[in-house]
Amino acid sequence: MQKLVIEGGVPLEGEITLHGAKNSTLPILAGALLCDGRTVLENCPRLTDVFAACRILTHLGCRCRIAEHTVTLQMQNLRTDTIPEALMQEMRSSIIFLGAVLGRTGSCHVSYPGGCELGPRPIDMHLEALRQMGARFLIHDGQLDCSAPEGLHGAVIHLPFPSVGATENIMLAAVLAKGRTVLHNAAKEPEICDLAAFLRSCGADISGDGAGTMVISGVKQLRGCSYSIMPDRIAGITYLGAAAITGGTVCLRGTDASPMDNMLPVLEQMGCRIYPEPDRLHLLAPRRLRPVASIRTMPHPGFPTDAQAIFMAILSLADGVSVLEENIFACRYRHVDALVKMGAKIHVSGRTAVVTGVRSLSGACVTATDLRGGAAMVLAGLAASGTTEVRRICYIDRGYEAIEQVLRGVGGRIVRMETGGSGEL
Ligand code: UD1
Repeated sequence: MQKLVIEGGVPLEGEITLHGAKNSTLPILAGALLCDGRTVLENCPRLTDVFAACRILTHLGCRCRIAEHTVTLQMQNLRTDTIPEALMQEMRSSIIFLGAVLGRTGSCHVSYPGGCELGPRPIDMHLEALRQMGARFLIHDGQLDCSAPEGLHGAVIHLPFPSVGATENIMLAAVLAKGRTVLHNAAKEPEICDLAAFLRSCGADISGDGAGTMVISGVKQLRGCSYSIMPDRIAGITYLGAAAITGGTVCLRGTDASPMDNMLPVLEQMGCRIYPEPDRLHLLAPRRLRPVASIRTMPHPGFPTDAQAIFMAILSLADGVSVLEENIFACRYRHVDALVKMGAKIHVSGRTAVVTGVRSLSGACVTATDLRGGAAMVLAGLAASGTTEVRRICYIDRGYEAIEQVLRGVGGRIVRMETGGSGEL
């Protein structure tokens, strides 16, 4: 078990190179299962979730080589249509393989995903959509057995909520299905467009991604291609947030403003100055941050739930009262106790969190509760006086590549240690 030890109070300054998006790498890796021949994915982040997805691919019979940020996949026929429970449990988003395996082989056996750190994780929308496309399901002893005896076919599907995972599963199932799928109320996240762009590069016929109604006409075959993953907008906003909370100046390379244009205006409201360039963003933080009247998490293009904890940490040091409202996940305020332990003033009532800014935070020993909550604790630690220890950082490693090295590169005093170990800052 490892922890991060942070000596706070240093304004971050310098350049950060942003890694590729976890949330598009995972469905794109699943999409590679549908392609014959070789797929080369560039700009893949080196994250535990990505390695877990590669282990699932290898188990299914796909040759998978990881060299730095390039993953090369060589697909022949699938060796099996079953993903063992141990592999399914390694990564919460492993359900994304369902649509791809089903689309490729006409059957799939996986363990049923339980709840997770963000609350219950139902997959009813995934299953209902796949059912409309000709799939049948048997659920027993925590197992999900799926088959499409006649093969999958196109359908007109209306999602009751624009679920990211359900949209991806439907896309993966529809690209090789017989006929046309029309998906209404599809998720519009940039990572959905990245998956669609990858599948199009492989020969898929998809239109309307990012617009709410997607039309997918099944093709006979997809062929592997070379594709570069989009930048990780949530890691990007986390690093800009680290500059904001420490009163620093950071240049974020490897992205333009567009993937973050639903979050950057909030940093600007807080008094940060942002200078976008075609392949980088500069952020200059004010001496004191201003509060934000209301941040409501919503499906894209609304404010992303994945950035809620990050902004809560930053706003805990603003000059006044900010209100956040979490509308996507039931249990997404689990980081609040840690921030309060560090001196933040936060009151949660149902979906709403009222953050009353304080003059300073103080270092404490805290435990990451989930990926973004853990990152929020790191940001608070960078700004706090004294030493902060963040434990259970396996959550953070799921979404940030070598976070301590990135932050040290811009002057952060942060090291990774074995729990119980000691080291120099
Ligand atoms: C994805 C992202 C995650 C992000 C989330 C929302 C990945 C790997 N993860 O997760 O980082 O926080 O989108 O932007 O891309 N729901 C149902 N039934 C379903 C499916 C979802 O009720 O069948 C509910 C969920 O419980 C949740 C909400 O819909 O309350 C949103 O979930 P969804 O958009 O599916 O998120 P994920 O794809 O799991």
